[in-house]
Amino acid sequence: MSSRTAHLTEPSEQLLGRLEQATSLCVLTGAGISVESGLSTFRDPEGLWEKYNPSDLATEAAFRRNPKLVQGWYQARLEQAISAQPNAGHLAITELDELSEYFLLVTQNVDTLHTRAGTKRLVELHGNISDERCVDCGQPSDRLVFSEEGLRCCADCNGFLRPGVVWFGETLPTEPFERASEAASRADVFLSVGTSSIVYPAAGLPLLAKQNGAFVVEINVEPSALSHTMHELILGPAGEILPLLVEHIRSLQPLNKLEPNTSR
Ligand code: OAD
Repeated sequence: MSSRTAHLTEPSEQLLGRLEQATSLCVLTGAGISVESGLSTFRDPEGLWEKYNPSDLATEAAFRRNPKLVQGWYQARLEQAISAQPNAGHLAITELDELSEYFLLVTQNVDTLHTRAGTKRLVELHGNISDERCVDCGQPSDRLVFSEEGLRCCADCNGFLRPGVVWFGETLPTEPFERASEAASRADVFLSVGTSSIVYPAAGLPLLAKQNGAFVVEINVEPSALSHTMHELILGPAGEILPLLVEHIRSLQPLNKLEPNTSR
């Protein structure tokens, strides 16, 4: 840990002051924010990639090898995601969206909890588990048919339907990543929440923000691969720390949103 990274258990006066001045906020989230909703992360001891091998489940080659296994695994994850409810962390981010002049949530999560929490200005960098498209012709699954084996297939070309998530070896969708990079570059404050910060290009966003002058803060229950690059690391559950930030911003009068900074 760099000696320049403050190690805290609650937001510092410096962060609250930065938020007070900020007109542009960018938040990056990872699987840790959904832990308090009962969903698993990927790399913690009980994480998905500790139990399953991603090369059996999260590549196009794996899907073509065994579409039944992969469709079944993603259907089970979809059901878990649908039965989970947004937690205090997701709801706090929705409030940050409502309170900020310029705001973007960049999530690596595919569980749809941010959307269900009401966050409007967001990009889903790794796609969305509730979308499906044909692995062959790329058409979305508006009309699907079932194969004799019960597999979900494209009504147009009979190809198998794959989940609308980004798999290993695939490029991120261009437009969401451009929006994320732009928001990181213009951010006054950048919050990195509940991510191990090892999967690029998402993990590069706080670095981009810092290079462009943002105050960068990590919120995590333990240090990540990039904690040493942050101005502050706040150690605690996202569902407890994020509401403290919102409480502070709500107490400000007037809200930044009502006094847009026209110089940016
Ligand atoms: P990881 O599983 O790699 O990291 C989850 C992080 O959440 C860890 O750093 C935990 O310490 C932290 N954490 C756990 N509980 C928390 C809590 N209550 N509050 C705050 N933090 C908490 O998940 P990601 O970083 O999201 O990609 O993984 C990145 C990508 O790797 C995923 O989007 C996925 C995966 O392969 C694709 O599937 C393309």
